[in-house]
Amino acid sequence: MKIKATVLCENCVFFHAGAIAEHGWSVYLETDQGNFLFDTGQGKGIINNAHYFHKDLSNLQGIIISHHHHDHTGGLLQVLEYTGKVKVYSHPELFKNSYNVRDGVEKNIGIPFRREILESRGAEFIFNTDFTEIVPGLLLSGEIPRKTSFETGDTKLLLKNEKGYIQDIVADDQTLIANTEKGLVIVLGCSHSGIVNIVNYAIAKTGQQHIHAIFGGTHLDRASKTTKSKSIEALKQFDIEKIGTSHCTGLEASMHLFQEFGKRFFFCNVGTVIET
Ligand SMILES: [Fe+2]
Ligand SMILES: [Fe+2]
Repeated sequence: MKIKATVLCENCVFFHAGAIAEHGWSVYLETDQGNFLFDTGQGKGIINNAHYFHKDLSNLQGIIISHHHHDHTGGLLQVLEYTGKVKVYSHPELFKNSYNVRDGVEKNIGIPFRREILESRGAEFIFNTDFTEIVPGLLLSGEIPRKTSFETGDTKLLLKNEKGYIQDIVADDQTLIANTEKGLVIVLGCSHSGIVNIVNYAIAKTGQQHIHAIFGGTHLDRASKTTKSKSIEALKQFDIEKIGTSHCTGLEASMHLFQEFGKRFFFCNVGTVIET
């Protein structure tokens, strides 16, 4: 497979006057098997930025959702206005309610739309929990086994049960993997499963050790110092040609990765293009 990925939604934008940054994530994927959209941002920038970068939302083969959080799903309704009937690949927990609580105020951070509304606008949901091939060479991870001892998840992400709040491990977190002639291209959502778990799983499922590029949210910004340093140490052991940090990676982890990866590191923001 050949792939060209253009970041449409991310927390920063540089030099593209006319494009909009937001706390969110979306990537437009042009492949030899058709065009796909991975995540939709929170809904402020997606339409504007698709126009700005001349990315056609009306010819998508499918929309792929990394996980249920609103900063990845909030643009879905607007995107459907352009696509009409379209396949939407995601985990069956897409519509769960999940929360964070700040200063005593609870906020629902799940997808801001009901399933019926999205279906009435053309979404055809295809749910998966296991590793799945979307088209030849384009793979969706399914649930990622949580194996490392140091990737413990974000304790501020919550679900509610009859006893009160419990941690949401975001079991629905999925990663997109393109198996290209140049190696794997790994497109992260927020890496709620742990970036090292994700890379290990991508290698195990594809048998491909060489990673041409890995980019997206790593969630290292909200991780402990130990998790940050152990994750970065572990990443150095893989055969990674390029690593791009975005969204929930934060400045400190990005700086560390830049120090460790040097020229192989890139800051991955609105308008960044990754091509094989
Ligand atoms: Fe996110
Ligand atoms: Fe998230």
